[in-house]
Amino acid sequence: MHKKIILTGFMGSGKTTVGQLIAKELKVPFIDVDEEIEKWYGLKTTEIFQQFGEQEFRRTELDQVKRICSNTEIQVVSLGGGAFLQEEIRNTCMENGTVFYLWVSWDVWKQRLDSLVPSRPLLQGKTENEIHRIFTDRQKIYNTYHFKIKADNGAEQTAKEILQEV
Ligand code: S3P
Repeated sequence: MHKKIILTGFMGSGKTTVGQLIAKELKVPFIDVDEEIEKWYGLKTTEIFQQFGEQEFRRTELDQVKRICSNTEIQVVSLGGGAFLQEEIRNTCMENGTVFYLWVSWDVWKQRLDSLVPSRPLLQGKTENEIHRIFTDRQKIYNTYHFKIKADNGAEQTAKEILQEV
């Protein structure tokens, strides 16, 4: 392993939990980009969306990814689910790390939905059909990766599969 390990995938695919497990196993630092953004504003993601809007959140997300990727330190980095909407983030991550796409099926993901809503502004006030549409549309942005890992079977199993590749 000689590069950062970067995790992408839809909200609730387990990026943070899996990232923490891998970092612990490899004894390297773990960075959660959403957490970095929240620290930068001193606000929760939902509050950032409410007070500044999504565009501003995305600008900060890009800044944070560029900052994190500007050094060669080996780290495990968990991205927010919308980070790969931005081509510049996709390119920065592909160049500076090994990108793992955590893929989760709709049937499994649906069971996590209720627990995600309070902290995910993009899921709030939406019907299941609308959320399904976002889920389907989003799959396209995750087409840039080095490895695609099925994340239906829980964080431990997903982490194990990633560790076999690094
Ligand atoms: C978002 C995903 C969230 C967070 C924000 C926007 C998205 O991260 O960055 O709510 O656009 O998919 P998680 O994937 O960690 O939930």
